[in-house]
Amino acid sequence: MFVITGAGGRTGRAAALHLLAAGYRVRAVGRSARRLADLAERGAEVWEADQTDAAALAEAFRGAAGVYAVIQPNYIPGHPDFGAFQDQVAASLTEAVTESGVTRVVGLSSWGAQHAAGTGPVLGLHRFEQRLSALPGVDTLWLRAGYFMENLLPHIHSARVHHRISAPFEPDVPLPFVTTPDLGGRAAEELATGTWHGTEVLELQGERDVSMREAVGVIAKAVGADDLTYEQISIADFHAGLRAEGVSVNVADMMAEVGAALNSRHTRMEQPRTARTSTPTSIERFIEEEFAPRYRAAESE
Ligand SMILES: NC(=O)c1ccc[n+]([C@@H]2O[C@H](COP(=O)([O-])OP(=O)(O)OC[C@H]3O[C@@H](n4cnc5c(N)ncnc54)[C@H](OP(=O)(O)O)[C@@H]3O)[C@@H](O)[C@H]2O)c1
Repeated sequence: MFVITGAGGRTGRAAALHLLAAGYRVRAVGRSARRLADLAERGAEVWEADQTDAAALAEAFRGAAGVYAVIQPNYIPGHPDFGAFQDQVAASLTEAVTESGVTRVVGLSSWGAQHAAGTGPVLGLHRFEQRLSALPGVDTLWLRAGYFMENLLPHIHSARVHHRISAPFEPDVPLPFVTTPDLGGRAAEELATGTWHGTEVLELQGERDVSMREAVGVIAKAVGADDLTYEQISIADFHAGLRAEGVSVNVADMMAEVGAALNSRHTRMEQPRTARTSTPTSIERFIEEEFAPRYRAAESE
């Protein structure tokens, strides 16, 4: 039996579905059974637990052959100290692994998690790696994921209305764009059949590196918007825009640091691109299957 934390989230749901489809027993953990009902219909044992409740997580982990450990959500926009929240969840997951006696963990981390500073929210994942990897007798595989293609979806409104997509990234900086279903699928495969020992790191880099300029070109073609352009905005304007949307100073600071870290290549992949560090979904397929339908649906509203 495998335990999937964040089973109501993007990568967790994908991991649970992958394991269920392959015939494995799955315990799907989330804060609300209602939000996990579709996984229950597919045969998952649904387990309500808050990820900050170490005792509840330890109960959920007991008897598992392996656990997928993920700090979710991606970020909480209004949080006054998101790093402290990440630390609380990391401590809770780590304590639950210890208390339950689980010895195999696949953890979701991020590219850039090798650094102890200057990476925004990835710093919390760096600390998560350090904390959990210090446990004796636990084999832990860290999946250091690239930049989620799903990060493009919030740009739909601006693409439609303003005919531009704005971000703080240099237009040609190469981004290892990856999809969350590919990440969840890989987490499931590693849990079920992985052969790693001790603490290992696997960077997941997507199908190929894609710049924002290229990504916007793919979007323009898919939605038939020839005049769609990519605009690099300054870190200061990006930060001000987040604040205007109600994002807390703490989270806006973190997100701004991501922009600076990507542009300076401080955040970068270190492992060579191989079949093992690549994932299958191309940017073209993601835009065609996920971005374009939402864009068209918004157009007809
Ligand atoms: N974005 C990127 O480019 C990127 C790149 C690399 C790594 N990452 C990492 O990926 C992880 C996110 O993984 P994911 O996308 O699978 O997760 P996710 O989909 O963002 O997680 C969503 C889940 O978070 C829970 N949630 C929502 N609001 C919450 C709140 N206020 N407090 C507590 N829980 C809340 C909900 O679970 P329930 O309600 O079901 O409990 C929800 O189903 C993060 O650690 C992030 O740092 C992101």
